[in-house]
Amino acid sequence: MYLVTGATAHFGRQAVEALHTAGHPVRALTRNPERAGLPQGVELAQADLTKPETLPAALEGVRAILLVLQYGMDPAPLLTAAREAGVGRIVFLSSGAVVDGVDVQPDVIAQYHHDVERAVRESGLEWTILRLLFPAINSLTFAMQLAGGHVIRAPYIKASFSAIHELDVADVAVATLTAGGHAGQTYTLTGPESLTQDDQVRILGEALSRPLTTEDLDPEPVLQQMSAFMDPAFLGALFGLMAATVGKPAEVNDTVERITGHRPRTYAQWAADHADDF
Ligand SMILES: NC(=O)c1ccc[n+]([C@@H]2O[C@H](COP(=O)([O-])OP(=O)(O)OC[C@H]3O[C@@H](n4cnc5c(N)ncnc54)[C@H](OP(=O)(O)O)[C@@H]3O)[C@@H](O)[C@H]2O)c1
Repeated sequence: MYLVTGATAHFGRQAVEALHTAGHPVRALTRNPERAGLPQGVELAQADLTKPETLPAALEGVRAILLVLQYGMDPAPLLTAAREAGVGRIVFLSSGAVVDGVDVQPDVIAQYHHDVERAVRESGLEWTILRLLFPAINSLTFAMQLAGGHVIRAPYIKASFSAIHELDVADVAVATLTAGGHAGQTYTLTGPESLTQDDQVRILGEALSRPLTTEDLDPEPVLQQMSAFMDPAFLGALFGLMAATVGKPAEVNDTVERITGHRPRTYAQWAADHADDF
């Protein structure tokens, strides 16, 4: 049995569906099974990662876990319960913001994921880390603006991302959970090409048959505005990561292809797959 946390959000959900489609027994951990909306045949475990007493039942018979955590969530209760339940393997979905070789990380996003990575490495389970940065799914944040016009206004419009499709993340998760050879590995996953946000908007426009344009915003006022409803430290980290990619191409590597045997999906493919979301 494979257990997936974060199973009702973007990455966990795709991994659950990919495991199920490949014929593996899969259990989705969620606080609200009645709202999960996962395929028939997927087991649902009602549990809460902040409530240790709910975890043993979810872990019964589990051989490997895909750990997808909402930002800020403490992995300790699950890691302890997993060790006690005799789980063999854990794969953690981490962030490409993490800098190797330093304990004090450059920002809160990197620090959080660094700390979880360390807890996973020290858990006593066989571990694999998957890091990604600026996945294609983040483009869904454009949807609200596109409901009201054809212009995407955003800071760092020239920031470069090698955006990975969530289906490729799911394929890598399936491979690393179910096959040997990945223990003790930290993989950085990328899409097949480096594109600026500007490029992404153009490609999205082609998929939607709409002539989309962009407007580069001054980051500071946007940061101030968004800080009213989001953690300012998180936002500051996010903006810093974007600022660092302006004017230089994002890393593109062949890790997805090496692990899954297929090329990563393009951003154009992602845009076509998500046309209905816009
Ligand atoms: N997007 C990015 O740019 C990016 C980049 C790199 C890495 N990542 C990693 O991907 C992670 C997950 O992202 P996501 O968008 O798929 O999910 P998310 O929106 O961050 O998290 C929502 C998920 O967390 C579950 N959850 C929340 N509180 C819980 C609790 N107390 N107990 C059990 N489950 C709980 C929810 O399940 P229920 O509501 O069903 O219980 C839901 O499935 C991020 O936190 C980050 O570590 C993201």
